[in-house]
Amino acid sequence: MKKVISIMGSPRKNKNTDMLLDTFTNGVLENGYSVEKINLIEKKISPCVACGYCEKTGKCIIKDDMDEIYSLFDEGDIFVIASPLYFNTVSSFTKMVIDRCQKYFSLKYSLNEVYRKGQNRTGIFISVGGAPYSHDHFNSCIGTMDFFFKSIDAKYLGNYFVSGSDKNPVWDRDDVLKEVYNIGKNIDKLSNFYLHR
Ligand SMILES: Cc1cc2nc3c(=O)[nH]c(=O)nc-3n(C[C@H](O)[C@H](O)[C@H](O)COP(=O)(O)O)c2cc1C
Repeated sequence: MKKVISIMGSPRKNKNTDMLLDTFTNGVLENGYSVEKINLIEKKISPCVACGYCEKTGKCIIKDDMDEIYSLFDEGDIFVIASPLYFNTVSSFTKMVIDRCQKYFSLKYSLNEVYRKGQNRTGIFISVGGAPYSHDHFNSCIGTMDFFFKSIDAKYLGNYFVSGSDKNPVWDRDDVLKEVYNIGKNIDKLSNFYLHR
């Protein structure tokens, strides 16, 4: 069975980020995938300290809850990361996970080993920002997510962004919830989507 790895990067459960993420994965479930969700607020993950160990071994020297997430990165087919926008980028919970993925770059580019190349894995990024809609609201996350999905050998398939969540939360936005559900439901047919509501 194909597997979705769902990563929730907001410290607030059942709020905008979480609700969008679960609505998306509920749609994906209709295609017979299994879903494994990680709430980062429940995990103890240390930051990358640039010790260089992964450049020599392809492994991370830090032993913490990231080990569980590394195992999921080995197994998944679809990776969906959801984060609120904090200071124009992903939350620190999310960024901590991303930086710890340096070991995949080391594996590939320092040690010339293969990770999951050619396995048809995809990545989706979901984000919400409290400020009102502006054209470039989520732009500064894109480069980070691009490198993250590259590190784990997943094709960056799409973005789903919602502005204005502080005044107009997603639980009051049926249009948004229906849309993100349908994206999940049609995930195997979609390519390169970018939606900003
Ligand atoms: C530390 C912090 C920084 C934030 N920075 C931004 C920001 O740069 N841009 C923005 O639109 N909203 C910003 N917000 C608002 C959040 O994006 C907004 O409240 C969002 O709904 C939070 O997601 P959640 O409801 O899933 O927790 C910030 C909130 C916090 C707590």
